[in-house]
Amino acid sequence: MTTLDARYPLTMVCGVGQVHITRMTRSDAPGVSAFASALPPHDLLFMRRDISQPKVVDAWVKEIEAGTIDSLVARVGADVVGCSGIVRDPLSFSPHVGELRVVVSPELREQGLGRVLIQESFLIALDRGVEKLVAHMTADQRAAMAVFEDLGFRPEGLLRDHVRTAEGAKHDIVILSHDVERLDAHMNAYGLGEAFD
Ligand SMILES: CC(C)(COP(=O)(O)OP(=O)(O)OC[C@H]1O[C@@H](n2cnc3c(N)ncnc32)[C@H](O)[C@@H]1OP(=O)(O)O)[C@@H](O)C(=O)NCCC(=O)NCCS
Repeated sequence: MTTLDARYPLTMVCGVGQVHITRMTRSDAPGVSAFASALPPHDLLFMRRDISQPKVVDAWVKEIEAGTIDSLVARVGADVVGCSGIVRDPLSFSPHVGELRVVVSPELREQGLGRVLIQESFLIALDRGVEKLVAHMTADQRAAMAVFEDLGFRPEGLLRDHVRTAEGAKHDIVILSHDVERLDAHMNAYGLGEAFD
């Protein structure tokens, strides 16, 4: 729970109609598993764990309940069409760092949903006291890199052959980062600064 909970549910209009964005809770787990199972496997590689597996989603929900992950779920009607997460480890030496993860259904891409999920996740990260955000993605996710760079993230590292598909193909992971000062300026530029007033 954060002071931003009153923002949700949030409704936006995409080409497909209304999209409702809510905080993810245990009741969303089956819908998120179904959404993840329908995604191209390549789109899940940046997640570290295979979120198409119900046991992985169950572990994710436990972290939400423990307060170390803040996730949003986007739905059209009953169907999950996107989700995001800010992952933190308050017991590590990087309690000030949050990792942003976001994925949108291929059918809804390039209609603004990814940007909204990322911006809402920014707000949650700031509310949680995060000072630096990182995002991991496979180096060939050109769209994801374009979106994140447009939102102020900058490349910070490359992990060669870091993830492997079930078929054995290895892929590089790019790490992008965004510091909180720029994050604040970014939110103000998009008129979202007042979310904290
Ligand atoms: C990254 C991702 C979430 C973006 O979602 P999306 O809903 O398509 O993003 P948006 O429609 O909000 O696009 C945001 C901006 O990026 C731009 N953009 C989107 N797709 C693009 C593409 N293929 N090439 C260049 N720019 C692109 C848009 O033009 C938009 O800018 P604008 O608002 O000025 O028009 C989506 O591509 C995805 O799920 N990718 C697979 C998972 C992944 O790699 N996630 C990143 C790891 S954290």
